[in-house]
Amino acid sequence: MSFEINKSVKWVGKIDWELKKFHGDELSTNRGSSYNSYLIQDEKIALIDCIWTPFAKEFVTNLKKEIDLNKIDYIIANHGEPDHSGALPELMREIPNTPIYCTANAMKSLKGQYHQDWNFVPVKTGDKLSLGSKEFIFIEARMLHWPDTMFTYLTGDNILFSNDGFGQHLASEHMFNDLVDQAELYHEALKYYANILTPFSKFVENKITEILSFNLPVDMICPSHGLIWRDNPLQIVDKYMAWAKDYQENQISIIYDTMWNSTKKMAEQIAAGIKLSDKDVTVKLFNCNSTHADKNDIITEVFKSKAILVGSPTINKGISFAVAGILEMIKGLAFKNKKGAAFGSYGWSGENTKLISTELEHAKFELLNEGLRVTWSPDDEALIKCQEFGQTIGEALK
Ligand code: FEO
Repeated sequence: MSFEINKSVKWVGKIDWELKKFHGDELSTNRGSSYNSYLIQDEKIALIDCIWTPFAKEFVTNLKKEIDLNKIDYIIANHGEPDHSGALPELMREIPNTPIYCTANAMKSLKGQYHQDWNFVPVKTGDKLSLGSKEFIFIEARMLHWPDTMFTYLTGDNILFSNDGFGQHLASEHMFNDLVDQAELYHEALKYYANILTPFSKFVENKITEILSFNLPVDMICPSHGLIWRDNPLQIVDKYMAWAKDYQENQISIIYDTMWNSTKKMAEQIAAGIKLSDKDVTVKLFNCNSTHADKNDIITEVFKSKAILVGSPTINKGISFAVAGILEMIKGLAFKNKKGAAFGSYGWSGENTKLISTELEHAKFELLNEGLRVTWSPDDEALIKCQEFGQTIGEALK
């Protein structure tokens, strides 16, 4: 499959409807994804990015139907991660001398992965490459999301090829932003940002500011995953600017695990207490160990929250593995300007709230209090305490 983006640019990637997880099992991709590769034909011919390894043969076979591979003058590798470079070895077997334009870091990454001494041409921000009537301008985009990432801008057509930036893991038969359900599109764009780009928000803000200062017209943004932004393409740039600035909504998320429903009962009463104190706040509950729980959807909700309350029973002097896993993810994502508190039931030793509080502090969450512990199954008195706990927190966060 291929399709025209305009007279000189063609999409030659792969839509992966079956992809359900990414980066091993680190990221859920419930709506599939696409690996976008772009063929640009001017007086010179260039290919921007490849696709993931399992589809390498299919990619090269299809590309041959579009173009005599020997006519490709330049390959642009905006990023070295295998979902964009996996098909390179297959392609380079056919055209081994074709120059690969990429950052110095991408060169390291590609050499480290494929152990080939291809004809690399390292580029920096502001470097240009003529295609004849148009040219590429390269823009290093370090930490968006790896140190090797760059964007490539095509003059004349005014297209920004942004690689992972502004992408979404979303397979669709409609590959343009104006043709799809907007809620679904933005859910996936936000999930992508929350789970991948949050730690690099400062870089995002600085890079967007830098690119806007170039005053380059942008008629289209072509990312390497998901849909192409052709209708008001700067709408996603505006969103990124908002998300990069310690984004939060009027939301509190309660994330818990439970063994015999005691911590679950606490979670529900705490939620009721919050609502008593503030009827406008959104309160969401997530049992992070239920069969339906999706850790990355929970992280997306953490991203949107001004505070999270984390609950676990005490298990073997520790906390549940599901809660521990979510806390580890939260710590790695380096959220800013968020608050938190711990809760949970216990029968004997009761280390849970202390351990959760410590993890929240390590994740740089401001603790709202010392947490709430309840022994065994909460009785009426304990349930009232839970409600009061929620009410106090709701008041404090108004
Ligand atoms: Fe960082 Fe889509 O790979």
